[in-house]
Amino acid sequence: MSYQLLFICLGNICRSPSAENIMNHLIAQRQLSEQITCDSAGTASYHVGSPPDRRMAFAASQRGITLKGQARQFRPSDFESFDLILAMDKENYANIVALDPEGRYRHKVRLMCEFCRHHPDQEVPDPYYGGEEGFNDVIDLLLDACEGLLDNLVQTQVAR
Ligand code: 4NP
Repeated sequence: MSYQLLFICLGNICRSPSAENIMNHLIAQRQLSEQITCDSAGTASYHVGSPPDRRMAFAASQRGITLKGQARQFRPSDFESFDLILAMDKENYANIVALDPEGRYRHKVRLMCEFCRHHPDQEVPDPYYGGEEGFNDVIDLLLDACEGLLDNLVQTQVAR
């Protein structure tokens, strides 16, 4: 069984699909596709069925990453299905843990920026209502966090 990661944001069209596809890119580079798998979801349902935002996809493409996927909403059964659930910001984190009032899965939910090694940010900012720079910054921040996360998993979870 592979180790299963779920990336969470609000709409599942900007930040979490970027995290999913960046992580898949790094996993493929290290030939770990059999060991670690990725998915993403939104806390909100506004964009269910939509592809990633084209401004986000453009920023990712400039770093050689293609954004694939279709938005879906987080569902409580995801708590069982995934090993680690990574929230992009504190609001996403609060919305997810609120769906687990007894705290049974609290140990599986983390903030993405905990894994950054070069950026001091505590959250991946929502780029949706901002300009192009915000989308580029999201990619830079996620590359840092995804590399830190992957190194952490290789050390703690993945038998090689
Ligand atoms: P995401 O960005 O949570 O990174 O996918 C957003 C997408 C849509 C909206 C807000 C943020 N929205 O308000 O529709």
